Amino acid sequence: MAHDPQGPRLPAARGPVSAAVRAYLSGTGALPAADTVAAAAPYGDDLQLALYLCYELHYRGFAGVDPDREWDPDLLRVRAALEHLFLTALREDTPVHASVDEALADLLVEPVEGAGVSHFLSGEGERWQVREYAVQRSLYHLKEADPHAWVLPRLSGRAKAAMAAVEFDEWGGGRPERVHAQLFADLMTDLDLDTAYGRYLDVACAETLATVNLMSLLGLHRSLRGALVGHFAAVEITSSPGSRRLAEAMRRTDAGPAAEHFYDEHVEADAVHEQVVRHEVIEGLLADEPHLASDVVFGLDVTGFLEDRLADRLLAAWRKGESSLRPASQESAGDGAAARPESEKVDIS
Ligand SMILES: [Fe+2]
Ligand SMILES: [Fe+2]
Repeated sequence: MAHDPQGPRLPAARGPVSAAVRAYLSGTGALPAADTVAAAAPYGDDLQLALYLCYELHYRGFAGVDPDREWDPDLLRVRAALEHLFLTALREDTPVHASVDEALADLLVEPVEGAGVSHFLSGEGERWQVREYAVQRSLYHLKEADPHAWVLPRLSGRAKAAMAAVEFDEWGGGRPERVHAQLFADLMTDLDLDTAYGRYLDVACAETLATVNLMSLLGLHRSLRGALVGHFAAVEITSSPGSRRLAEAMRRTDAGPAAEHFYDEHVEADAVHEQVVRHEVIEGLLADEPHLASDVVFGLDVTGFLEDRLADRLLAAWRKGESSLRPASQESAGDGAAARPESEKVDIS
């Protein structure tokens, strides 16, 4: 059995399901039993980490894990059960609009002043909170736009051409130093963070894992291509105003030029991407496949639903002066992280 010699370290388990998946990947144990999987809370640390472990095999894998585990049928069966729990909960819990137009229109309604993470960080965020935000977001931004690439073979004509054009920009337009994942790594360097892929998986909260798992879920299933397009549109359309505030936060906390540049770049780029996604990707897809409209709406709305859950988690911690991160070395037995002293800030240096 071949093992990837390099790659991120497997993270610590967060409960019985992630413990079993982790053991299976490292060749030291069996997959979780069906009733153990069925008992996992859909948004909890245990299920979200187990799902994340399964998905990461499609990106960079883990050090010491056989890359062929990616297509292990037994593991895929477990993944499907985890996905079913997650997707069922999302479909039940996400308030959805009646039409694509209504969902799109609502994206542009700004949250009440101070209610969003970018409002908080631009108004009163301190350097440690800006760093924590970068740590949480690093799980996505270090593979920015990668989950969306899976939709390309599933599109055609206008939608495909436009989606590829936006992805080309996300991947630097042919220039490696301008790949957005690289721009984010440069931001992390400014903030004295480790830019290694997967470095902060252990400390990312379940709400962060859920936002990234959503992208992988939608990207990996052709049946969810409409929702993937809706998700991508939600990200691009809300990015420009949010990025403006985050650029302010970087300036206000003297984060550094690369940190400012990442968000400045997104103010510019995503103002253009918004128009392309709206008028070419969504309209192009629905011209070809009008029956996917309700899936596009779901993708638009579920993105906001999970982003709001993450924002609530971050702001609840920060307003109390507490870290939003999980303690790095903790191997939790259940779904919740143990309480920790109020003053303790997780060491992310
Ligand atoms: Fe980007
Ligand atoms: Fe973009």
